[in-house]
Amino acid sequence: MRETLFDFPKSAGLLVHEWTKQPQPPAAELAQISPSAWAEQLELEHPDATPLPRVDLRHSLPSYGQMFANRHSRRAYADTPLSRADLARFLALAAPPQPSAPQDSAPFAGVRPYRATPSGLALVPLVQNVADVAPGAYLYSAQRQQLHPLQSDHPRAVFGPLCFQQEFVPAPLICLVVGSLHDYLARYGDRGYRYLLLAVGTQAQRCYFAASALGLNGSMFSSFFQQRINLWLGFDGYQAAALVAFAVGYAPEEHQ
Ligand SMILES: Cc1cc2nc3c(=O)[nH]c(=O)nc-3n(C[C@H](O)[C@H](O)[C@H](O)COP(=O)(O)O)c2cc1C
Repeated sequence: MRETLFDFPKSAGLLVHEWTKQPQPPAAELAQISPSAWAEQLELEHPDATPLPRVDLRHSLPSYGQMFANRHSRRAYADTPLSRADLARFLALAAPPQPSAPQDSAPFAGVRPYRATPSGLALVPLVQNVADVAPGAYLYSAQRQQLHPLQSDHPRAVFGPLCFQQEFVPAPLICLVVGSLHDYLARYGDRGYRYLLLAVGTQAQRCYFAASALGLNGSMFSSFFQQRINLWLGFDGYQAAALVAFAVGYAPEEHQ
């Protein structure tokens, strides 16, 4: 079947695919924009930040093979509150690569070199049931290892009704992956949308491996009203947008 008509692709998907095949040469000044520029703004010192326990994973990570073998979507969560230490560990492992950090900074000191390329994504943990952390929506600052408050409503009351699949709602932690289409388009031109989606896929895998490494149950999902969630969190859906979510908690069989 011909997929073009008078040399034009027949579908919008094909058109986008063809159009974004070749990188558009970005203007020199746009090429300087870090894809995480907006997230860096959000990383500024916050007077009401919740500090998390310092994480040092040097001696506690399982082998890659074990993490790989244990990596599965699991959609059932114990009622047990997630410990603050496990929250800190999960976020530190799942966090997107940071643009810069001293080589000796926790939690990855001696484990792996810090990656130089920022992904342009950020994590917004919706804390529902974590010991000694007030329920609410936070922006995770990986460099400072702390939570910056965004909304103090209980996520179960706001996010729950906006979620199509109720099996994810009881999770003690729902970690939103937030990205900026604006920054990706500014930096990569028409190819930016592709890169944003690729980055989200990579981030999804990072969440799975973080859960697997810590023996936590977790599952990726995107079945929620994104615009309503953006509105709640104060995101415009373009400069910043909630893209997917990862529900995390302890396995019910181990916490009965
Ligand atoms: C980005 C992304 C979004 C997803 N969204 C949903 C979703 O909204 N609802 C759902 O039931 N599964 C969703 N899934 C699929 C599951 O979370 C999971 O990947 C699937 O059950 C396969 O399990 P496995 O990854 O352990 O092989 C999504 C997966 C990904 C990667």
